[in-house]
Amino acid sequence: MRLKTPGEIDAMAVAGQAAAKTLHAMKAAAAAGTTTMALEMIAREELARHGARPALLDYHPRFSRVPYRFATCISVNDEVIHGQPSETTVIREGDVIGLDLVADVDGWLADTAITIVVGAASVKVQRLLTVTQEAMWQGVRKAVSGARMGDVSNAVQRIVERNGFGVIRELSGHGVGSEVHEEGIDVPNFGRAGKGLPLQVGMTFCIEPMVTAGSPGIKHRPGDPWAVVTRDGSIGAHFEHTVAVTSEGPRVLTALPS
Ligand code: MF3
Ligand code: CO
Ligand code: CO
Repeated sequence: MRLKTPGEIDAMAVAGQAAAKTLHAMKAAAAAGTTTMALEMIAREELARHGARPALLDYHPRFSRVPYRFATCISVNDEVIHGQPSETTVIREGDVIGLDLVADVDGWLADTAITIVVGAASVKVQRLLTVTQEAMWQGVRKAVSGARMGDVSNAVQRIVERNGFGVIRELSGHGVGSEVHEEGIDVPNFGRAGKGLPLQVGMTFCIEPMVTAGSPGIKHRPGDPWAVVTRDGSIGAHFEHTVAVTSEGPRVLTALPS
């Protein structure tokens, strides 16, 4: 793993802002009657407007037989991650939609995701989203020099399980920087505090809890090389930020200034 310089982290933050603004535009456009492909097209335009290249488009991850053919992953209801945008997926009132993308500005990347509800949310869905996002933030707080990755993982796991939701074991966050998935850093969403990789200034990685409203089991959607769905059909949620460990603490590169 290569640690990033402060200048490289600043460059990743430029990509991070483009990614965050793009997610915001997608969220604003997500309405009943719209297709997920329409959201993909908005993302392509927004990324271009911010001088960013869609890093997922034609990206070929090690874990897949085939390259990915879209700028975004759009995961509806029981899909947790890697849903492919489609002309035939029409968004309906009450749908729970994960939006995930990676922006590349001059070779520096940032990866971020949110999950939204279209229209009114049930109490349980609202709680699922609040808890998943809060788990991400609790993980972020632990991303400091001198801590261990297990501190991040354990913080995520505790808040999810305390609320009765399922932490998916098979999927983790990852190193990010000049590639979407950089080797040497793995960010599980469960684990023991005080264990795992020692965190150092210059590390950059994604913290991305993937949570189910029911049991934590997942499977691949039959006939789809990408979509990961919950095994029990329950709703899935996913939030993601790209974080840098700095001498001043965790720096969230994909958060918009409040
Ligand atoms: N953005 C995803 C992540 O958080 C990566 C999508 S992988 C792809 O790791 F294969 F779909 F591109
Ligand atoms: Co992502
Ligand atoms: Co990621």
